[in-house]
Amino acid sequence: MSDLSSVQNVQDQAKGDLEKIHNPQELEAFRIAYLGKKGKLSLLMERIKELSGEAKKDYGKAVNDLKRLIESSLSELKGKQTSGPAQTGSIPYDPTLPPLRPRQGSIHPITQTIQEISKLFVRLGFETVQGPEIETEYHNFTALNIPLDHPSRDAFDTFYVDDGRLLRSQTSTVQIRIMQSRKPPLSIIAPGRVYRPDAVDASHSFMFHQIEGLMVDQETTFGDLKGILKLFLRELFGSKTAVRFRPHYFPFTEPSVEVDIRWGKGWLEILGAGCVHPNVFKAVGYSTQKIKGFAFGLGVERMAMIRHGIPDIRLFYENDLRFLRQFS
Ligand code: PHE
Repeated sequence: MSDLSSVQNVQDQAKGDLEKIHNPQELEAFRIAYLGKKGKLSLLMERIKELSGEAKKDYGKAVNDLKRLIESSLSELKGKQTSGPAQTGSIPYDPTLPPLRPRQGSIHPITQTIQEISKLFVRLGFETVQGPEIETEYHNFTALNIPLDHPSRDAFDTFYVDDGRLLRSQTSTVQIRIMQSRKPPLSIIAPGRVYRPDAVDASHSFMFHQIEGLMVDQETTFGDLKGILKLFLRELFGSKTAVRFRPHYFPFTEPSVEVDIRWGKGWLEILGAGCVHPNVFKAVGYSTQKIKGFAFGLGVERMAMIRHGIPDIRLFYENDLRFLRQFS
């Protein structure tokens, strides 16, 4: 048999053998028989060094062509075997099995808390609204009766943007925006991010979330404020929760209170509130004679930390799935 016809011979055998391959085991056996160290191709190659001149060139080319042909047929077969579900090795294909789904994400605990609190207030007739995070000094301070010499207006106590605007330090800005654009009666809550240049530690962050509340009508009293906040806090923390109102000072409410809930043996400060200051009504063009209102503001992270016993505010922002999956 001539050298070239022995190459042809192996090629014919390979063609026949390839057609008989039905599973990965047979595929591997074929690979070893033809391309393995002691396989048929190696045997053919050994002959190359015994030839010379034109004959060596022709024979070498024929053997290499055959090798490439076998390699490409093999990889084609391999591709078919792995992509076709009916042939995946020894595991029978069961079309009735449920599909493997990618793991689903879930709502962030801060968003969950906002949604839960919003739901409670919506049941009490409040509407959810939003305002911008980049605000004017007017909305964040001036209209809220915060005087020029108030420490929070200082450049070191607020993030100012180049054009004179700032990152709002409280959601009370939304009180102003809503009253500027609508007439009373109003009952709104406004969840959103606020920013303060606080050093980050277990209970402080330069960014956190607040929910603002505002109710304005002809006869809205401090008694209404107390009733609504008590109802809300008992819905959230349990129907027997003791609630305490402590006198406080905010420039935009008068009188002002801080509200605590009984927690274990002590009291936990939960939110700030008060009756809307007449200067705030003046700033938005409401009549201070005919209109009364109350407002409150609470920290969302703080609420979530108390309710779930979370010890460190930074856990909310680190995207650690071991933490987040507990809320899915
Ligand atoms: N804006 C206040 C704060 O950030 C909270 C507050 C809102 C107090 C509304 C009274 C009324 O601390």
